[in-house]
Amino acid sequence: MARTRLVIDTDPGVDDAVAILLALASDELDVLALTSVAGNVSIDKTTLNARRLVDLAGRDVVVARGCAAPLTNELDEAGDVHGLDGLGDIEWPDPVTPESGEHAVDLLARLIDEGPLTIAAIGPLTNLAVLQARYPGIESRVERLVIMGGASFAGNVTAAAEFNIWTDPEAAARVFAGPWPITLMPLDLTHQATLHDDDLAYLRALDTEVGRRTAAILEPYAAYHDQWYGNRDVIMHDAMAIYELIAPDAIEKQGAHVVVETGGTHTRGATVIDRRRGYASSSTRVGVSLDNGAFVAVLRERLARYR
Ligand code: RIB
Ligand code: CA
Repeated sequence: MARTRLVIDTDPGVDDAVAILLALASDELDVLALTSVAGNVSIDKTTLNARRLVDLAGRDVVVARGCAAPLTNELDEAGDVHGLDGLGDIEWPDPVTPESGEHAVDLLARLIDEGPLTIAAIGPLTNLAVLQARYPGIESRVERLVIMGGASFAGNVTAAAEFNIWTDPEAAARVFAGPWPITLMPLDLTHQATLHDDDLAYLRALDTEVGRRTAAILEPYAAYHDQWYGNRDVIMHDAMAIYELIAPDAIEKQGAHVVVETGGTHTRGATVIDRRRGYASSSTRVGVSLDNGAFVAVLRERLARYR
């Protein structure tokens, strides 16, 4: 089985952490690097957290620092959701995995030149927009771009906008206008993917460092969900981008055309996802539905592989 050469562009981030641990436990994927971007927390913290997660997984993966701020607006962190450190504010040992001396954007360009590359973008799209600007035409040489972001019907930062797109709408608008094969996992899909208290108990019962730490960082995330959504069902937004890559038939998808609102007093950062029949054969695919039980079974089995 040919493994997918993959870079995960990420702003860890509690749900990013689950996605990264899922990817690093999956033989279908050859995770070459994590590229950090400012989003949930600052670039210093997302880069440190990426290093921490590679250490936790016990894998040899490059961590390269990316963009420290959105293209035009100020960074507005989500510390209330992911903790001030971005990973639930638990204690971590000093990281061993080094930070690459190569900028994330240049590392992405080099890996694209070296062979077929899939990119899973699970944070704001700033690094990708800078990649487009710094290496014109590179999009058409990317094998596949899977994005967690956007929403069809309701946002999570405003009623119109989802966090990854809202954080850097100008970057997202450029990315969605580019000629790369995009698969988008918007909130209307990701809200179908949830872990529950019995899943946290399962992780703790694994009696492994990965199990213990994953349950520990999910605990405050569950409390946030309880406050905002009225239950402790934690939404696995970012894991959907990885699940798509390890189980390509598991998520029902449809063709669509996606544009991003960069103006709009009340709609800045909204994704306008056109699902009309005329776009049925579009190279841009959008996640529609999944069987959460099947996803959770795969996630549990993969996380149990860590010893
Ligand atoms: O809206 C969900 C997205 O925003 C996820 O990527 C989460 O990590 C946050 O970055
Ligand atoms: Ca994220």
